[in-house]
Amino acid sequence: MVKEPRRLTVFAPAKINLFLEVLGKRPDGYHELETVMQEVDLRDTLEMEEIEGGIELTCTEPSIPKDENNLAWKAASLFQRKTGMGGGVRIHLEKRIPVGAGLGGGSSDAAGVLKGLNTLWERGLDQRELLEMAAQLGSDVPFFIYGGTALCKGRGELVYPLSVKNNFFYVILYPEIIVTTSSVYKALKTGLTKSRKDVNFFLNALSSGDPESVGSLLFNRLEEVALGLYPVLRKIRTLLESYGPCGVLLSGSGSAVYGLCNTKREAEGIKENLERQGMGKVYVVTNSASCKAV
Ligand code: C5P
Repeated sequence: MVKEPRRLTVFAPAKINLFLEVLGKRPDGYHELETVMQEVDLRDTLEMEEIEGGIELTCTEPSIPKDENNLAWKAASLFQRKTGMGGGVRIHLEKRIPVGAGLGGGSSDAAGVLKGLNTLWERGLDQRELLEMAAQLGSDVPFFIYGGTALCKGRGELVYPLSVKNNFFYVILYPEIIVTTSSVYKALKTGLTKSRKDVNFFLNALSSGDPESVGSLLFNRLEEVALGLYPVLRKIRTLLESYGPCGVLLSGSGSAVYGLCNTKREAEGIKENLERQGMGKVYVVTNSASCKAV
């Protein structure tokens, strides 16, 4: 009898940073962060299928690597090594999250692979073991093991889940510029004494559920740095702001800029305007709870 290979589909959602403060530079070269990450319903899809051995990766996006340089591939390889799994996996990645956007696409794909392989190969690893592997792959990967909304500390790998009951609507503008995270952190001057933003004010606003309060407290310490490096980002930020959302912010190290809106309708209206301006790709998204493998 021929055994059917096991298959699994995993959704890998994007994130936006609602708040990001840099507390300082660490001895390991990374930066100590306090950031609030929000999963949104813009998703990549990973089709996973067990094969006899090795790792095979295909992707709908021609510009990204399909070998050991891809974080999803690295995640599969790490999982194989850590669990001593002899079998292999074929992964097809349907990419919808824009690349180099600060939306966490690569990190989310990697977390999706870890969660997916745990199910596909019936390894039964607990969340702590998955988080440990995730942290080895990248600073944002542990967040995606949880998904939803979370306060992340350390270099991003210490994840404290938050409960957000309201639906917020965001319009995201991706100017088709690929920003390298390390270049933004490198240009950040941490030595200067600036008044540090307190995340607790932001967390209070978030739990109030009022988009106007949340919008007025959106903050990203990397924003000015990225806008300085890529002046076109300042232009699109100003444009997005001119349509009057509750707040506007660069996500992560960019290049995507988003606006928080009062309603879905408002977000759709701003999307139409932005598309008419031809400044890039535009998405309307809402916060989602954590995605599960199906
Ligand atoms: O951890 P990850 O590989 O995603 O980080 C990419 C780059 O971003 C790092 O090489 C580092 O330059 C920068 N980074 C940082 N501090 C963090 C997270 C990332 O300096 N907390």
